[in-house]
Amino acid sequence: MGILFIIANSLPSSVVKWSANMLYLTEEHLMLRESVKDFAEKELAPREQEVDEKKLFPEENLRKMAELGFLGAHIPEEYGGAGLDFTSFIIIMEEVARACPSTAITLAAHSSLTAYPIYRFGSEEQKKSILPDLCEGRKLGAFGLTEPEAGSDAGATKTLARRDGDFYTVNGTKMFCTNGSKADYIIITAKTDPFAPRSHGISSLIVEKGMEGFKVGKDEEKMGLRGSVTTQLFFEDCKVPVRNRLGEEGDGFKHFMQTLDEGRISFAALALGIAVSSLEESAKYSKERSAFGMPIAEMETVQGYLADMATQIEAARHLIYVAARKLDNGENVTKEAAMAKLFAGEMVNFVTNKGVQIHGGYGYIREFKVERNYRNSRLCEIGEGTSEIQRLVVAREILRQFPS
Ligand code: CAA
Repeated sequence: MGILFIIANSLPSSVVKWSANMLYLTEEHLMLRESVKDFAEKELAPREQEVDEKKLFPEENLRKMAELGFLGAHIPEEYGGAGLDFTSFIIIMEEVARACPSTAITLAAHSSLTAYPIYRFGSEEQKKSILPDLCEGRKLGAFGLTEPEAGSDAGATKTLARRDGDFYTVNGTKMFCTNGSKADYIIITAKTDPFAPRSHGISSLIVEKGMEGFKVGKDEEKMGLRGSVTTQLFFEDCKVPVRNRLGEEGDGFKHFMQTLDEGRISFAALALGIAVSSLEESAKYSKERSAFGMPIAEMETVQGYLADMATQIEAARHLIYVAARKLDNGENVTKEAAMAKLFAGEMVNFVTNKGVQIHGGYGYIREFKVERNYRNSRLCEIGEGTSEIQRLVVAREILRQFPS
């Protein structure tokens, strides 16, 4: 039994106002954070540099996290998960990202973008047959939305799924698919009604590794998050059984948008973890490094940098926890998720940039964690919807409240 099951089953649930940044967490959440932090520091952090340098897919880390119940943290126990709330998953994401960002993005794609939509939109048969394998780490999941000509404009999906009796024949290409070359299950979007207007007539299909006509392309050479795989996928008359469709035909676009609402909060937590790591490294370094006869921590400019980094981190944390808590309450989080992702994505780029600056020349050297954090943070303004798309989503949600 993993630590998550023990925590889920044995503790009272009272809200503890431990400090301003923990306003939203319960005692269980705080205990969970300590356990995950301890695990991540001992098991994930020591290999983080090697994961980056050698582009090691963090399989071993996933196996260990599966044993502790992290992979299905917020999936109910009846489907093999730990039965915790989404806020717990966010805490896991942050602490895993603080130790090893490549492992964290792999976890996000597997849990938030695959297990969660199957739980939310899948049939009972799909949930019973797929979720235990995903939650317990026997199988890996991925989410394929982006196409060569449909990135930010996800509604322009070109992949076509033509129904022939009990099968769909799928043709098209997906790209930038996190976990793509390693995944056993990939949820893709495909147009099942070619005559429907954009964003409509799209369905979600679960493609399984080894299906006829499904080919895995190359893994991309990336700037950061180098242990995670990002892959092109090809579908050439790929036969997908109709029973592998998630939900009703034509509901795929909305499913993906709702999945991204959750996914964006997870992605914001990835940014938060990376930023915390850079702040910690920089604070420690500033006390060790001397210049002009004093530790640089005593210089006003460096103190200003540290204060700005910490303030930005704290602000992001509030946005993320509010979004997670609303999601746990069953409320719509489209706006809050986009705000959290937007702010955290920009925050982490600011924070990791300052982290490099405080380290001076050392910050530019690969063996320093702040250098890797700087590279890793860049995706946080791009993946799961660029900052420009998040601004569009937030603005639309605001304007919706003022009908013309
Ligand atoms: N929840 C529920 N329904 C939603 C929704 C949401 N969050 N967002 C939109 N919809 C619904 C709308 O209500 C609308 O429904 P009706 O037509 O019935 O009224 C329908 O979906 C179409 O919505 P829009 O008109 O708003 O669609 P749009 O084409 O203008 O696009 C968009 C909206 C926000 C720009 C969207 O395309 C978007 O989020 N783009 C970014 C995609 C993205 O994040 N890509 C990265 C994916 S990550 C990846 O692929 C790699 C990986 O492995 C992680």
